[in-house]
Amino acid sequence: MKTRSPRLVIVSARAPFVRTPNGIVRAPGGLISALLPLMRRSRGTWIAAGADRDACEASELPFRVRALSLPSETRAAWYAGASNGALWPLSHGFVEVCRFRAEQARAYFEVCRAAAEVAAEHAPPGAVVWIHDYQLALVPALLRARRPDLTIGFFWHIPWPVAENLRVLPWASELVEGLLGADLVGLHVPRYVRAFRDTLDELGVAHVNEEEGIVVPRGARHARIEAWPIGIDVEGWASLGRDETVAAEAAHITSELGGGRVLLSVDRMDYAKGIVERLEAFERLLEQSSEVRERVTLVQIGVPSRETVAAYRDLRQRIEATVGRIQGRFGGPRRKPVHLFARTLDAHELAAYYLAADAAIVTPKRDGMNLVAFEYIATRPRPNGRLLLSMTAGAADVLPEAHLVNPYDEEGLGSAIGHVALAPETASDSTRMAALKARVSRLSVETWASGFLARLEQVTQEHAPAQAQ
Ligand code: G6P
Repeated sequence: MKTRSPRLVIVSARAPFVRTPNGIVRAPGGLISALLPLMRRSRGTWIAAGADRDACEASELPFRVRALSLPSETRAAWYAGASNGALWPLSHGFVEVCRFRAEQARAYFEVCRAAAEVAAEHAPPGAVVWIHDYQLALVPALLRARRPDLTIGFFWHIPWPVAENLRVLPWASELVEGLLGADLVGLHVPRYVRAFRDTLDELGVAHVNEEEGIVVPRGARHARIEAWPIGIDVEGWASLGRDETVAAEAAHITSELGGGRVLLSVDRMDYAKGIVERLEAFERLLEQSSEVRERVTLVQIGVPSRETVAAYRDLRQRIEATVGRIQGRFGGPRRKPVHLFARTLDAHELAAYYLAADAAIVTPKRDGMNLVAFEYIATRPRPNGRLLLSMTAGAADVLPEAHLVNPYDEEGLGSAIGHVALAPETASDSTRMAALKARVSRLSVETWASGFLARLEQVTQEHAPAQAQ
């Protein structure tokens, strides 16, 4: 596989580096770790639409990073408004949470235009430009109009909304037309590609169904939509799982928690993650079972997120209030059934919790790939432990051996949590975990990134010049 690495331009909302009190450091997350080596090799340019200019333009960075000059109101209306107040809830099926405001849509268009202009300015002739996520969906077509010589890829990192929901977005056609400016649009799983096809039907956009995806003729070229499931830095997490200091920290956590069974959830504090519903299910288990009251602890790591959006501020309060109520009802001087950490943990700390946990409880109401599920599996050195996973997460499509649960089914959720907490582990559990480990190993983020880029080049070559259909 050959990637034209010398000519890569990445466009994303977040920057690959952030400024901290200890200086400029690599931003967290698997996507960044997969793309950094490619960028280093290519000496390309990374355009970070929503980033802090200061951290982006520091001289010690290994490649060029560019931020946009945006008025703060435009940035807020784009990020908190159109992106996280409209597109995010819509894509996750929370139509009632959506707010569609014209000035926020205008800001979204303006940011996408500005990102396309900076990309057009920095991309060398014939370069490959890879644009990321729902915050920047209009960039492909805007960039194509300015620079028809470029190869353009786009990856949508969250669920694709069902057509019925997308039609209530006042600028649904513009959104889809924006994406179709790309040569290849990646979604996580075939289920989202089918939802995209429904959207094309709904909007009356002509397309051809192919085995691996959809082809949309666009004048002299084609746009393809395909499923490309993302993974994690498998070896990075596995080596943390083998690290003696991490193992010692895990043993310390287990003993601090009283030596009973440990359940672990790790989420950004986002209403799509089903955190309150999970806490309430655990509260009902505490009511019903003395064994749960005596032996089971739920550790909820809740990373603060998007607190400029009212729905997120409200959620954080609800989570804290629910944990407080559970503590009040079931806690005591030597026993705390739920531990909430409302902060970001670094990879070492997280890995220790992954080792300490008898089960990971990943029960979002709706989610895309949910990489926490992958990290739990990859970090554990042996095929033990259990993963409870929502069937409504895209990750369930690629991790079918997990214990799957419907997060909307209150009794079902409670009994599934009770089962993974208390039932003795059997040979079938270790067979499941071994199968999951094999799946996660095959889905590494490096393979995903290089595979997507190679496919992007391949489809661009196949379709140039395009045959009229
Ligand atoms: C999801 C999205 C990313 C986003 C991340 C964190 O994973 O797909 O695009 O960066 O959430 O959200 P934030 O709003 O903090 O960037």
